[in-house]
Amino acid sequence: MDLQAKKIALRKMPHGVYVVGLKGHSQLNAFTATWLTQVSFTPPLVALGVRKDSHTFTMMQEGKVFSVNFLGKNQKSIAEHFVKPASVVGEKLQGIPHKLGITGSPILEEAIAFIECEIREIANEQGDHAVIIAEVVEAGVHRDEPALTLMDTGWHYGG
Ligand SMILES: Cc1cc2nc3c(=O)[nH]c(=O)nc-3n(C[C@H](O)[C@H](O)[C@H](O)COP(=O)(O)O)c2cc1C
Repeated sequence: MDLQAKKIALRKMPHGVYVVGLKGHSQLNAFTATWLTQVSFTPPLVALGVRKDSHTFTMMQEGKVFSVNFLGKNQKSIAEHFVKPASVVGEKLQGIPHKLGITGSPILEEAIAFIECEIREIANEQGDHAVIIAEVVEAGVHRDEPALTLMDTGWHYGG
């Protein structure tokens, strides 16, 4: 395989940029994610790719829930903040206004919209990311605006 072509082709897939909120046994966390897509209407399911060696993955296995916070076009700085590893910067939600949703997952007050999800399946045998399949159990819209995409940010995650 032409590795350069693989990288360029895979990066043609359009993605959003989200802040995923988590509830572990004793703490909250949030991280920036882009590998998210809807995979069922009934029930409403989404699939999220999560790095197996991340703090996030451990917390997902503990709490079995997460929120997805959708950002507006001018909110790249929020995504930038949540990219930093919790192991390096500590409590990322400190100083960021948020409330807890019905699942106990953090919802950012500045997000344009959010969903809350309960994890139904984790496929983690292949690859460096696990595929988390989760049911959408709650949703809210703060402002019905266009959402931030990976292309808007000029960043890449994939290839
Ligand atoms: C643009 C962008 C998109 C990302 N998307 C994902 C993703 O979909 N899944 C994932 O596990 N990590 C993704 N990451 C990496 C995490 O944001 C990063 O590993 C973060 O430090 C994890 O936070 P944690 O240490 O609190 O778990 C992405 C990073 C960037 C810059």
